[in-house]
Amino acid sequence: MGMIKLAPSILSADFARLGEHCAEVARAGADRLHVDVMDGHFVPNITIGPVVVRSLRPTTQLALETHLMIENPDRYLDAFAEAGADTITVHQEGGVHLHRTIQRIKALGKRAGVAINPATPAETLEEILPDLDLVLVMTVNPGFGGQAFIASTLPKIRRVRQMIDRLQPSCELEVDGGIDAKTAPAVVDAGARVLVAGSAVFSASASDGGVAAAVQRILASAAG
Ligand code: DX5
Ligand code: ZN
Repeated sequence: MGMIKLAPSILSADFARLGEHCAEVARAGADRLHVDVMDGHFVPNITIGPVVVRSLRPTTQLALETHLMIENPDRYLDAFAEAGADTITVHQEGGVHLHRTIQRIKALGKRAGVAINPATPAETLEEILPDLDLVLVMTVNPGFGGQAFIASTLPKIRRVRQMIDRLQPSCELEVDGGIDAKTAPAVVDAGARVLVAGSAVFSASASDGGVAAAVQRILASAAG
């Protein structure tokens, strides 16, 4: 099966204690930090921008992956690159010229990812896949943490897995939305290797062992 990697989404962290929360998940075995950027247009919610990436960058050794849920992401690629993002993931549905966007991310020296919404077919990735370092299959409609996992995305995860194995085996397959210790085994079985988890990590209660125990529970259940 290979190693399953966990990418805690800081969206569900306590922003007043962001540094501490990130250090805690790093110690617990998180592979990277997932930064959810929302613009109030592509998705209903507004979250954070490059300034938070810039503040976080020197405080952690973990890679920072920015998930841009924004319209017209081309306008902000340079800002996120300069702020210290290691991976820049844009939505297939967020702009018009995806190929140009991906080439720009690579020219900035960053890893390039494409995310697809639950209703977007896997097939839309076929032509761009050879250029990608990461595909992100959304397992909820983007916009908010704490939503229920959409199980009908599982066959699509399998199709994306097959496409990656055929066209770009080094490309990572990540899933995002409603991932916890219960849903992790199904997405891993379908072929996901990087799991984003927000509320399952940062909303874990102290009586359940807090953030560190939550990271370990998800990784253990993903390992089968
Ligand atoms: C959803 C975001 C996710 C979100 C996941 O729009 O892209 O990264 O933080 O949160 P949970 O794990 O709570 O579904
Ligand atoms: Zn995300």
